[in-house]
Amino acid sequence: MVDGKSSPIRSACFVLPTYNEAQNIVAIIRQILVLDHANLTVQILVVDDASPDGTADLVHALNDERVRVLSGQKRGLGSAYTRAFEYVLKHMSVDAVVQMDADFSHAPMDASRLLAQLASTDVAIGSRYVAGGSVDPAWGLRRRLISKVGNLFARSVAGIYRVRDCTAGFKAIRVEALRRAFPLRLRVQGYVFQVASLHALQISGASIAEVPIYFADRAAGETKLGRDDIIEFFVHVWWLRLLSRKTFIKFALTGLTGVAVNLVSFQLLLSTLTNPYVSSAIAIEISIVWNFMLNNFWTFRDRTMRTRKRVRGLKFNAVSLLTLVLSFSTFVLLRWFFPDHPAWFSQFISIFPAALANYFANSYWTFKSDQV
Ligand code: GDD
Ligand code: MN
Repeated sequence: MVDGKSSPIRSACFVLPTYNEAQNIVAIIRQILVLDHANLTVQILVVDDASPDGTADLVHALNDERVRVLSGQKRGLGSAYTRAFEYVLKHMSVDAVVQMDADFSHAPMDASRLLAQLASTDVAIGSRYVAGGSVDPAWGLRRRLISKVGNLFARSVAGIYRVRDCTAGFKAIRVEALRRAFPLRLRVQGYVFQVASLHALQISGASIAEVPIYFADRAAGETKLGRDDIIEFFVHVWWLRLLSRKTFIKFALTGLTGVAVNLVSFQLLLSTLTNPYVSSAIAIEISIVWNFMLNNFWTFRDRTMRTRKRVRGLKFNAVSLLTLVLSFSTFVLLRWFFPDHPAWFSQFISIFPAALANYFANSYWTFKSDQV
């Protein structure tokens, strides 16, 4: 809480994004409205993207003045939430916003615990990854891995280190905190919204706490998490990082020039040596040396280091080798998980874990500062 004082939460707007949730929406609304009593006024905003299964019609048919529908075109979970939060900030007068899935993965009853937490923080996250929190055993290995890797990236790349469940879709937020964090500096379409909004809340000074929840597998219908969401996710977390870190921008730019150097040298070598494997190996090494020089004399220039440049050069090469192994293993793993997606998708995504490891290994080992 920025001012240290906490006004009590007397009213809350529940924001429910829906796309084809006809099987769940009415039941979930009923359960949420149970929370509407003397001490808490509850309103519900259903953000529907013209669901072909008629989700919005079912909500209209309830004919309850506490429940309204915000309709729009299908552009993704992030667009829907952005639209809803802007609406709440502009047209509604409530103390808090609760965002949750409309498929019973998040139990409406748990919202009380999140709202209670707002007595001492600006944001309460319904967290799967703190002590006492858990995920439905029905969630397969694939879903678990996507969630874990997504979280690892959100925490380490976007820099939300203190939060365990960065991709959580269940949150209670004080409206004043939401107002300080919005609008987002970079618009998002898909699921990465969860991370982007948390990042915005964090940098605007909101205090954040995690409340353990059990995340059930959806009761009916199917997940809408798609390939575009995954691509946007892995690209966007780096943008979030770029917003706040100068060293990181330099490192990323260096990496980009390295890619160009690699490809140009490869072409030149190929035209003289003709052997593609030899050309490839030499080109990779040239780009490694190029990246090292730029990082040494530009990116990490400000760091005082006692290690000799030759030692740093060797370390940099060792890290590059690790990068290669990591990106190739990711590629193989992704081919296994997503056999139906084109190979370039796996190749593209595999760059990111490697680049992440590369950055941290170089920043904290190769170019480790002597100062503490
Ligand atoms: N309006 C709208 N537009 N709603 C959408 C869209 C969209 O494009 N895509 C999904 N939704 C709604 C769904 O109808 C559901 O109510 C909720 O958003 C979550 O969608 P799911 O498809 O059920 O998500 P999930 O179970 O795979 O993902 C869960 O885990 C993610 C990662 O941890 C959710 O809790 C996400 O919020 C979370 O980020
Ligand atoms: Mn779900």
